Amino acid sequence: MTAVAETSASLGHAIDRSSDPLIRVEGVWKIFGRNASRIVGTPDADLSRSELREKHDCVAAVRNVSFDVWPREVFVVMGLSGSGKSTLVRTLIRLIEPTAGRVEIDGGDITAANQTQLRELRRHTSSMVFQHFGLLAHRRVIDNVAFGLEIQGMPKAERLRRAEDVLKLVGLEDVANSFPDQLSGGMQQRVGLARAFAVEPKVMLYDEPFSALDPLIRRDMQDEVIRLQHETGKTMVFITHDLPEALRLGDRIAIMRDGAIVQLGTPEELVGSPADDYVANFVRDIPRSHVLTLRWIMRDPRSGEEDGPQLDIRTTVRNAVPLIVQSVKPVCAVEAGRVVGVVDKEAVLNAIAGENS
Ligand SMILES: Nc1ncnc2c1ncn2[C@@H]1O[C@H](COP(=O)(O)OP(=O)(O)OP(=O)(O)O)[C@@H](O)[C@H]1O
Ligand SMILES: [Mg+2]
Repeated sequence: MTAVAETSASLGHAIDRSSDPLIRVEGVWKIFGRNASRIVGTPDADLSRSELREKHDCVAAVRNVSFDVWPREVFVVMGLSGSGKSTLVRTLIRLIEPTAGRVEIDGGDITAANQTQLRELRRHTSSMVFQHFGLLAHRRVIDNVAFGLEIQGMPKAERLRRAEDVLKLVGLEDVANSFPDQLSGGMQQRVGLARAFAVEPKVMLYDEPFSALDPLIRRDMQDEVIRLQHETGKTMVFITHDLPEALRLGDRIAIMRDGAIVQLGTPEELVGSPADDYVANFVRDIPRSHVLTLRWIMRDPRSGEEDGPQLDIRTTVRNAVPLIVQSVKPVCAVEAGRVVGVVDKEAVLNAIAGENS
């Protein structure tokens, strides 16, 4: 069984849904191959990946993908190797040209942007962290962190000052003058994070940044991302093929299979009601009580039930159990100061009964 620490949702950081989404992705396709442009919009677009390969000798890496990402949200894309995650995240800033569809970031139409606008986007609005850290070996840590600022044209003294601040943010101020190969893998990826944060992007894109790290370091780095997200309120698109990582970090998670999104939902929605066998297979080993919250298992209060002990509606079942077991009355789930439902022992047992099934 795979333990999951508190999920991002249960940690309760505030996503801003009062304004427009920061990223809008509508009907994006990426087909590799000579005949790529002739397929979208024809009946052949519905062919499976293998049929398309056979008939047109092309690969449908991303198929008709749409989603929105809200300010301050951590949006995770997950799927098996080859499902199209890296291609998708690269099409967002046109490191790979989408075959069809539309991407908007911060109100700007990326798909219509010219080269100057794209350069501007990649220098100021978005930052990417890659699996292989991509640090410049012959430059000191601090110069690596300042690199994006240098490209932006920031004067030297100012960019070094900013880089120092960001290095403090990730706890690396002591190695500012070291070279990357003098650092461990985890520290190098911290430098990668610092470099991405230094340009103060609106959007951070991560493509499996921690998959080269060993499990304990990986957990530290996840904590680091959660902490940085809380402190800086960045909007993030985070690619991973590791479900516990997805559940820990993601406010919402899109599960990809063969280029398409098969389910998009909160960690609770994926674990509580997987859309198909592919998703069910992913979430099978996750203990439901670690992910499902009172919101998922509560029911309407009957009369006289509203004066039981209270818990925040985002409390996970696991954390609610001690109080529910102790209490004669059902526990009240509270949202914004109001009781919105109750949870009794039966609801907890039902939620837990789904585990290992
Ligand atoms: N330049 C390319 N030319 C042809 N096919 C490609 C190209 N890039 C990717 N593909 C194919 O597109 C599909 C999706 O690849 P992608 O790298 O996006 O997957 P992924 O989900 O990121 O996988 P991984 O977890 O292994 O990184 C794969 O079948 C891959 O072989
Ligand atoms: Mg990839």
